[in-house]
Amino acid sequence: MRFDVFTIFPSMFSGFLNESILKRAQQQGLIEIALHNIRDWATDKHRTVDDTPYGGGPGMVMMAPPIVRAVESVLGEELATTPIVLLSPSGELFTQDVARELARYRRLALICGRYEGIDDRVRIVLAARELSIGDYVLTGGELAAAVVIDVVSRLVPGVIDPESLAEESHSSGLLEYPQYTRPPVFRGLGVPEILLSGNHAKIAEWRRMMALCRTKARRPDLLARAPLTERDRALLERCPPDPFAHLGPVYDETEGEPRATD
Ligand SMILES: C[S@@+](CC[C@H](N)C(=O)[O-])C[C@H]1O[C@@H](n2cnc3c(N)ncnc32)[C@H](O)[C@@H]1O
Repeated sequence: MRFDVFTIFPSMFSGFLNESILKRAQQQGLIEIALHNIRDWATDKHRTVDDTPYGGGPGMVMMAPPIVRAVESVLGEELATTPIVLLSPSGELFTQDVARELARYRRLALICGRYEGIDDRVRIVLAARELSIGDYVLTGGELAAAVVIDVVSRLVPGVIDPESLAEESHSSGLLEYPQYTRPPVFRGLGVPEILLSGNHAKIAEWRRMMALCRTKARRPDLLARAPLTERDRALLERCPPDPFAHLGPVYDETEGEPRATD
């Protein structure tokens, strides 16, 4: 999948894109990220991309012509078939479902605003989809574009092990169950015994129950939309009083070897 990012700060992306999973995915040719400086499509010697708002008010607004020229010339014949995303706090909320939808395309264009935002005619002319990464205001769209690239890239086949994706928070409409790894006791807190039992059916049931209970406690809005089975409803009846409290044994570490107290 190819991402075309339109920004006036291309260097902001370098550290983020060149580490870890995204770096490997680019090296393997699974994703490609092209950064385009909108100023390259300005026409004056100062490479101006902003102007004062019509109607008055504070700050500057990004002008339509350089952005539209940039997107049209980079996308060329693929303009009509490539989703164009305009990062904006007024946009539709960017969720895992939206990410899944975008990951079906082979190319995605992302336009990053700055200042007071972008002339609204850009959205109209490019038939752009406005996306917000949350109900807060960033100084610019670059972080938001990086979030979209990160989330969508993880869904591109080959980037992440499909088994990891299947059980993650939001993949099934639920938050994830709690995870543990070595050491078996940390600061007196042990690991829930079921996870050490080797009984895979019971472990899967416990994890499903914890995903359900944690979602109910923290995100009832998600639980209300999640497709639940009769078995899920029965598991919800068994929720611990606080599914975010520590659920494993607690040891007294004050006298040498850990001793179970719970
Ligand atoms: C300072 S903001 C402009 C805010 C604008 N005046 C408003 O009130 O909606 C500058 C740019 O940051 C980006 N941005 C800010 N918050 C965002 C969010 N929650 N999601 C996506 N992009 C955001 C957009 O690209 C926006 O054009």
